[in-house]
Amino acid sequence: MNYGQYLNLNSILNAQFPESEKKGLLAHDEMLFIITHQAYELWFKQILFELDSVVGIFQDPVLDDQKMGVAHSRLERVITIQRVLVHQIDIIETMTPMDFLEFRDLLIPASGFQSIQFKKIEIILGIKKKSRTPADQDFFRTRLQESERQTLEDLESRQSLLELLENWLERIPFLEFGEFDFWKAYQTAANKMFERDESIIRSNSDLSAEEIAFQVTALQNTRKQFQSLLNKSDANHFNQDPHFCMNQRAVLAALFIKLYRDQPILHLPYKLLTNLIEIDELWTTWRQRHAIMVQRMLGTRIGTGGSAGADYLKKTTEKNRVFSDLFHLSSYMIPRSELPELPESISRQLGFYFTPQN
Ligand code: HEM
Repeated sequence: MNYGQYLNLNSILNAQFPESEKKGLLAHDEMLFIITHQAYELWFKQILFELDSVVGIFQDPVLDDQKMGVAHSRLERVITIQRVLVHQIDIIETMTPMDFLEFRDLLIPASGFQSIQFKKIEIILGIKKKSRTPADQDFFRTRLQESERQTLEDLESRQSLLELLENWLERIPFLEFGEFDFWKAYQTAANKMFERDESIIRSNSDLSAEEIAFQVTALQNTRKQFQSLLNKSDANHFNQDPHFCMNQRAVLAALFIKLYRDQPILHLPYKLLTNLIEIDELWTTWRQRHAIMVQRMLGTRIGTGGSAGADYLKKTTEKNRVFSDLFHLSSYMIPRSELPELPESISRQLGFYFTPQN
């Protein structure tokens, strides 16, 4: 075996067939357009390979530290690839709108929207058909081949990473601590913060009476949100909060992990949550950059797939977020110095002990 055989370069390097060349006159930039998309698809393949394995790890009813460590490194790899994917947009932007127009019409009705691997990544992470924008749902129905649609629907019927995350968080035993009512202590610390914030607003001489009333109402609303999340016996109220799609138990466990990330046992779970936040952020960053690049390339023209072009992409950027619950948790933070101190018996459970105990 030699290098080319091992990498099957014969197939890969002979897989570029510009439509313009078939029509008799090669549009120079079409080669770049094809190769850029192919490079993306190869990286999508690697991302899917990593995500599949992470889903497998999370499906295990017992997620021990070692497996969590493996999941963390694989998600780190996904993140590193995503950074490259965002930068790859720079390469396609070396093409000018006029050079794109040389071959663009030959692509109709093909469109990036039909990237099955891209859709698979969205679905494995946790996007459901019902939560897509109406146009996205419509394209899902009309622009894919029947077998592709079926594959995606089958994938959607399996548990996504978001659902597996929710199950895992729910199982984490950080909500009850025997005698110590942590959540009550947290609410007391938060109330102190709100009272301080309110007095800062009220004593701000730069604000008019209306501005003060507006800010105090906003603060009171945040305070109510705190109460609704922290009151474990009022799940109904919590369920009406549109900011969260995970259940209250899971959200509280995630909050506890974020608050006490420095406790040794919570460090790896914290890193995993941070990985998922980063994946969501980078996927959104790619969508934003792609949408702006499309605007630069097409202005207000429609896409080759028939969507509203840049406007459609802006909407999917906003709508197709997966781990927004984890972002929203930042609304429930208090200053680190005001975190309730955990009783000795609890912090012992959260630590590793390498030195003999007296
Ligand atoms: C000149 C460069 C590009 C232009 C003008 C362009 C344009 C568009 C437009 C207008 C859409 C909306 C659907 C439609 O009406 O066709 C779209 C969707 C999409 N494009 Fe591109 N694109 C370009 C490059 C790329 C590249 C390099 C990729 C990498 C894989 C890509 C991946 C996608 C994906 C995945 C979607 C679906 C996004 C969604 O539904 O949220 N595009 N593109």
